[in-house]
Amino acid sequence: MTAQRTSIHGQWSSRMAFMLAAAGSAIGLGNIWKFPYITGQNGGGAFVLTYLVCIALVGIPVMMAEIMLGRRGRQSPINTLRTLAAEEGGSRRWQYLGWGGVLAGFIILSYYSVIAGWALAYVFRAASGMFVAASPEQINAIFAALVADPERLLAWHTLFMAMTVIVVARGVRSGLERAVKFMMPALLIILLVLVGYAMNSGKFMDGYHYLFDADFSRLTGKGILIALGHAFFTLSLGMGAIMVYGSYLPQQVSIGRATVAIAVLDTVVALLAGLAIFPLVFASGLSPAEGPGLVFKTLPIAFGHMPGGTLFGTLFFILLVFAAWTSSISLAEPAVAWLVENHHMTRVKAVTWSGIAAWLLGIASVLSFNRWSGFAPLAVVPGFETKTVFDLLDFLASNILLPLGGLLIALFAGWVMSRASSAEELALGNLGYRIWRFVLRYVAPLAILLVFLNLLGVIDPLRRIVGL
Ligand code: TRP
Repeated sequence: MTAQRTSIHGQWSSRMAFMLAAAGSAIGLGNIWKFPYITGQNGGGAFVLTYLVCIALVGIPVMMAEIMLGRRGRQSPINTLRTLAAEEGGSRRWQYLGWGGVLAGFIILSYYSVIAGWALAYVFRAASGMFVAASPEQINAIFAALVADPERLLAWHTLFMAMTVIVVARGVRSGLERAVKFMMPALLIILLVLVGYAMNSGKFMDGYHYLFDADFSRLTGKGILIALGHAFFTLSLGMGAIMVYGSYLPQQVSIGRATVAIAVLDTVVALLAGLAIFPLVFASGLSPAEGPGLVFKTLPIAFGHMPGGTLFGTLFFILLVFAAWTSSISLAEPAVAWLVENHHMTRVKAVTWSGIAAWLLGIASVLSFNRWSGFAPLAVVPGFETKTVFDLLDFLASNILLPLGGLLIALFAGWVMSRASSAEELALGNLGYRIWRFVLRYVAPLAILLVFLNLLGVIDPLRRIVGL
């Protein structure tokens, strides 16, 4: 057994603390805001099925790999990859994978904070009774008025980024562990209440079929890439967030069991959000392809008409803010850990600078919903004709950087790391370990490569050549 390292940043107080932090990172806007709207933009059931397959075949094995690497390296992803590469006889260049992760996290944090700002704004809209008895048109107008005003969006974005900076500055242990413990069950309960409401909306089965009937004629190559990218996004994979959380994990915790529990919980929350939202979409004559405003245009209709809706609505948006908060801190952590390790900054200073940088980039997303809403920088590229700066940042980070990061993490953990090291660190049963290693070495990388090649238009000609 190799001598065990310890992290200079500390360690989770228990297995439970890690579970809460990792599930808190995974469950966020990705589940409740992003999953429904991209499902609606990509045709429903077939997209959902593809996403579920990606979670099982790529997400779970890569998550185990990330936690395993983090715990073995016990440093920020950049330094972990450098240390482990040296130890396992790999190239020094693996540390650039850590850099790619810092870049992806920085981009995601920049717009994540803007959307979390919408959720903050909606806490106050719900609490003031603005949704009571409102028609779908009025709800729509409330959303339109919010995003049309760059100053307001900037204010909420600033507040959320400040909240993120404060928690990361204090270290993950204090305060946050307790908040997540209460937040997650409460969020589940409210989602169940909303699904119950949707059941009585008259269109529950329409929503259900939309989510679960797979019509593959509606799935495009780009849709498959988006499903894959979202599997990474929703599980916080591909950029080192879960790796850095793994670096604070006590040695005796079982990585396999923790991973499966987190992935299942995360998926359940996303599917519940879909079941709550799509019936309302059909019942109120909205389009599933409404875009990033989907959640904000549907759920308030329910809050406006159910008994106790003002209270439930307020609580729901508070929980959504919490869910976003426990996610955003993990986006910043890899960069902060690296700044502390290599530049001997204090945590406070490191996160303040990281936060300011992400806040500045976030302004581009703020403007994408108003002043720049007609500005499509890549309009000449087919498929990108109407993509705003916000859309492009999300596409780049979620659908290019995260899958690429995931591919490289799988290759590193599966091919560079020795069998002895990964087996020791994972401590799975023999069969479990063999399955994990096979999927990580072959299935996950091939799946990611195929999705990329398919998008580049390489698969169809190849298929014709081999006569399939
Ligand atoms: N998983 C979070 C969500 O679904 C977002 C998130 C947090 C994330 N950390 C990440 C996404 C790291 C990608 C990488 O809302």
